[in-house]
Amino acid sequence: MSASDRQTVTAVRHWSDSLFSFQVTRPSALRFRSGEFVMIGLPDDGGKPLLRAYSIAAPCWADELEFYSIKVENGPLTSRLQHIRPGDEIILRPKPVGTLVHDALLPGRRLWLLATGTGFAPFASILRDAETYERFEEVVVMHTCRRQCELDYSASVIAALPETPLVDELIGGRKVYYYPTTTREATRLTGRITDNIASGRVFADLGIAPLDAATDRAMVCGSYAFNVDVKALLEGQGLREGANSEPREYVIEKAFVGDGV
Ligand code: FAD
Ligand code: A2P
Repeated sequence: MSASDRQTVTAVRHWSDSLFSFQVTRPSALRFRSGEFVMIGLPDDGGKPLLRAYSIAAPCWADELEFYSIKVENGPLTSRLQHIRPGDEIILRPKPVGTLVHDALLPGRRLWLLATGTGFAPFASILRDAETYERFEEVVVMHTCRRQCELDYSASVIAALPETPLVDELIGGRKVYYYPTTTREATRLTGRITDNIASGRVFADLGIAPLDAATDRAMVCGSYAFNVDVKALLEGQGLREGANSEPREYVIEKAFVGDGV
């Protein structure tokens, strides 16, 4: 790997048997928009880069980069990446891209961040960026996983918002609703995001108005099946998919490539 693509791991935290987050040094030339992803990885056995797409979980202003990762059993990258420690080096290609960015949304009043599993990673970036609270009066975060322990990372990001630089000054005047649910473990809030929106439960529980395409905007990141179902739900409410070249009411990105693509 070229010296400029190497970054040093500064911190690692394991959230469960299948999830961890880590911080690395930020390349001095890297500029990115909150919500974008880059390619990161490790050298393979032959010394060639083994790279995968990763959302940058840190906001665009951060001194260090953060990533939130799955541990896939026998996964070519993550079966090794999960063992990194502070002082180790990873490869990072500093070419950020992505559609989960403010530029791809029309102005609105309320922003919905809808994620399953590690799909929360880009929203950890968006939520810690003051621009989010300059653009929107309210933010509703729906994060759904099978088990409670898989929600600990998003809960900690939300809990730290009042102490997050720049965000702390704005957040007092804004409302951030956090609606974490599980689907395979009994917890305080349960059910799929799609079901909780379609049934109206999330609006009733939070005491907020139903979706309105005139003022609601959404960012969506989850499995292929989740994205397909949320897309149908949002379009049924009149929201249209946006892109960097054509901002609209919602944007969507895969949290990973798996079954169904
Ligand atoms: P792979 O060979 O890449 O994957 C093996 C199988 O594991 C996949 O076929 C799929 O079924 C499953 N899988 C892979 N990743 C996930 C996941 N995140 N959640 C659930 N199941 C998964 N992964 C992250 O952990 N964090 C991120 O921020 C992240 N951002 C991504 C952004 C984009 C745009 C894309 C396309 C993928 C992203 N991924 C992310 C997935 C990531 O690129 C790798 O697939 C993952 O790190 C596993 O790598 P691997 O080599 O161990 O296994
Ligand atoms: P469920 O347990 O009912 O399948 P996975 O680990 O399979 O990627 O799923 C992560 C979370 O996303 C789970 O809570 C799962 O609920 C939910 N989920 C999976 N597919 C969909 C879908 N098509 N629509 C809504 N939620 C989904």
